[in-house]
Amino acid sequence: MIDENKFEFKEIKDELSDFNKKEILDLIRGETNQSILAQLSDKIIFDYLNIVQRSNFLKLFVLQLDNEILAYAITAKEPKYLITEFNNLKIKIFLSLFTKLKVITLFNILLSVLKLDLILLKKNNVKKVNESLNLNLIAVTKKLQSKGIGSLFLKKIISKYKEDKKINYTICETYDHRALKFYIDKCGFKIIGKKIRIPRNLFVLEYDMR
Ligand SMILES: CC(C)(COP(=O)(O)OP(=O)(O)OC[C@H]1O[C@@H](n2cnc3c(N)ncnc32)[C@H](O)[C@@H]1OP(=O)(O)O)[C@@H](O)C(=O)NCCC(=O)NCCS
Repeated sequence: MIDENKFEFKEIKDELSDFNKKEILDLIRGETNQSILAQLSDKIIFDYLNIVQRSNFLKLFVLQLDNEILAYAITAKEPKYLITEFNNLKIKIFLSLFTKLKVITLFNILLSVLKLDLILLKKNNVKKVNESLNLNLIAVTKKLQSKGIGSLFLKKIISKYKEDKKINYTICETYDHRALKFYIDKCGFKIIGKKIRIPRNLFVLEYDMR
């Protein structure tokens, strides 16, 4: 059993130190290596983290033990902010993916920007996805996975947002079956449909905050 009191939960509001940025970069590359973010250069990832930290609509959370970052998560007040907040980076992101020949990733981004990826979802769920809090990324360092840290971290993030009575649902997505088990069995999420992605569709999950 983990001792919850030993961990420090933080929303990053100030500029991250280079050391902390590097710790988060390692988590992005190591644990969420299938994400679009992980396919970008270190420089773009650092710019991305700076934008998240300064944004009014995106948040960066970490869980620390003895000042070491063991877990990170990025949330968006609504999913549209995952596109609009990065307007200044979009050319760099496009060129970075284009030069690395990440054609499938670019195609998936296009599906998402045009909202074509939502056509498999029921109408009420499309509205829910578009208007709910989005848990974009979450990861725990490999050496400490399966010890209850991920669910503790997510519980803390959700409690923070529960203070805002206007948020009814948290939405997240994954195609990974282990992550699906984490969200459903450990954190109380349920599947509400699928988003189109190549080569595998994403499961869309909701957590009722009310
Ligand atoms: C998913 C993740 C955040 C859960 O954190 P955690 O500290 O391992 O979570 P908990 O200990 O509270 O719950 C453990 C459950 O999570 C799931 N899990 C464990 N390791 C996992 C992994 N590498 N990837 C996905 N899910 C995992 C399992 O269902 C596990 O249950 P089990 O221990 O009975 O097998 C963490 O495992 C991780 O960082 N995975 C890689 C990144 C990822 O898949 N993120 C989610 C999508 S962005």
